[in-house]
Amino acid sequence: MLLMPQPTPIQEVHDAVLDKAGVRLLIKRLDQVHPVISGNKWYKLKYNLLAARAQGVDTLLSFGGAYSNHIHALAGASAEYGFKSIGVIRGEQHQPLNPTLQFAVDHGMQLSYLNRADYRLKNSAAIIERLKAEFGDFYLIPEGGSNALAVKGCAEIIDDIDQPFDVIACACGTAGTLSGLIAGLQGKHQALGLAVLKGADFLRDEVRTLLSAGGYRQYKNWQINLDYHFGGYAKIKPELLEFIHRFEAAHGIPLEPVYTGKLLFGIYNLIVAGRFQPGQTVLALHSGGLQGRIGFEV
Ligand SMILES: Cc1ncc(COP(=O)(O)O)c(C=O)c1O
Repeated sequence: MLLMPQPTPIQEVHDAVLDKAGVRLLIKRLDQVHPVISGNKWYKLKYNLLAARAQGVDTLLSFGGAYSNHIHALAGASAEYGFKSIGVIRGEQHQPLNPTLQFAVDHGMQLSYLNRADYRLKNSAAIIERLKAEFGDFYLIPEGGSNALAVKGCAEIIDDIDQPFDVIACACGTAGTLSGLIAGLQGKHQALGLAVLKGADFLRDEVRTLLSAGGYRQYKNWQINLDYHFGGYAKIKPELLEFIHRFEAAHGIPLEPVYTGKLLFGIYNLIVAGRFQPGQTVLALHSGGLQGRIGFEV
């Protein structure tokens, strides 16, 4: 099984805010890495698929919400690389299926639902045993796809960056992607994660745990900013949507409100606040997720 990423461009954006601050902003278009396995998901899944194949397990199981980019990507990847897949979805089943889940089913994914109380216990031995009793043996990928092998995959994002930068910034949900960037930087430059959920200081411990799990050093050249969650995961405010519309109209780069919209909003805000030095280059990771726009009136 050969898993080579399609090369993705780096796009520089220009506008008055950036000119005034003297900061360069580059966008790494990981959203273009694969038509279906978009953005960071491609890198998170790569070594997990290889491990499942090496272990001779033909079924992949993971968890997610009804609009999950991870479930969408897992279904696409499973279909492309010949795995069966099971998506364990938070909450009740709704018919008709939304486009994310319909896509998953169309790509052969079997869906199963956990009520919200059970979903909170999804990593417990009891729930995993129940799922094994129902579905047989499977290769388990955690919610959001973040584990040690995802970190190893995301570290390779750095290998595909051929332009100098000072700070690499990404949206943080589970912090697997940020951990991978930190691992790939090997102590050079700075990594900045912008949390997309509220009360996310636990993500700092998550980074340390994921770096250890991947066998990486506890590098210190990273930070997580907690100021741009807009009220919580998948919560949006009019100023976020206005920003997304303005950014898309000015630069022709599509964003969505759950991850990349909050990331770019935060970066611009930090630039205006003088958080970056004149002459610095910020490289923002466009981590894909555009399929998730259908859940919003964007
Ligand atoms: C489009 C997109 N960007 C960013 C993230 C955040 O990545 P992580 O969960 O690794 O922090 C996710 C979720 O995995 C995502 O779907």
